[in-house]
Amino acid sequence: MRIEVEHGAETDGRSQAPLIRLRGVTKMYGKGQAALMALKGVDIDIAAGEFVAIMGPSGSGKSTVMNILGCLDTPTAGAYLFHGMHVENLSRDQRAQLRRRYLGFVFQGFNLLARTSAQENVELPLLYRGESAARRHVLATKALASVGLSGWEHHTPAELSGGQQQRVAIARAIVTEPAVLLADEPTGNLDTQRSREIMDLLSRLNLDHGITVLMVTHEHDMAMYAKRMVHFVDGLLDSDASNPHPLGADLPIVLPPTPAAGTL
Ligand SMILES: Nc1ncnc2c1ncn2[C@@H]1O[C@H](COP(=O)(O)OP(=O)(O)OP(=O)(O)O)[C@@H](O)[C@H]1O
Ligand SMILES: [Mg+2]
Repeated sequence: MRIEVEHGAETDGRSQAPLIRLRGVTKMYGKGQAALMALKGVDIDIAAGEFVAIMGPSGSGKSTVMNILGCLDTPTAGAYLFHGMHVENLSRDQRAQLRRRYLGFVFQGFNLLARTSAQENVELPLLYRGESAARRHVLATKALASVGLSGWEHHTPAELSGGQQQRVAIARAIVTEPAVLLADEPTGNLDTQRSREIMDLLSRLNLDHGITVLMVTHEHDMAMYAKRMVHFVDGLLDSDASNPHPLGADLPIVLPPTPAAGTL
């Protein structure tokens, strides 16, 4: 079975199903005496186009819920619906298809291949998708340009700063035009200035490209870029609030350069 979800279901007004819905999701690691309930029954709806910051103390279940949302792991019990489709009933292969087709990932540690150019790192998900070399080249070049890395295509991760490496990782995550970008502490290894640049970029992807962004962060300053903030405490959703003034929305609109005098 191929995984296909209805395109435009979120915008045509007919479907009321949110992009993502979790109901009574639990996750137990280990067995018997060693069993640990990392998620204790999570209910959440996320609509297409949202930018959600997931916060909470260490060990509260943030990465566990992200792994489930990203189809990297399955819940012990409960339901995960993506576009109304029950993900918990899918096979491993079907979940992998859903992941490749609709989801992009950004991690704290960048997870780039060393000794491999930025261009090749970004082309990798397209290779898995079976795209031709020519198309991989065009799409990866475009994705790198969209994160401000034109001219850096042939640099390896070791020849790039932390912020640039994370931008390569974001280009790799968006090159397949995912519906959802999942970012687990994307600024965790960056200084404040580099962190702000990454957050500006995530905001732009959300605001200008309509990508739904789900981001785990420990930093309140970074969470302020999101339109919605949810807090996990001890495996449960403790609070869920909208942010009326997300930071990224204040960014100046980038206008094309004015033609130099005498060129008109
Ligand atoms: N693979 C695993 N096997 C066993 N226990 C795990 C596993 N992954 C996570 N846990 C446990 O589940 C709980 C939730 O972990 P999780 O990684 O989701 O926390 P977190 O909120 O992301 O924390 P942090 O902010 O430190 O990243 C923790 O008690 C953790 O020890
Ligand atoms: Mg974590």
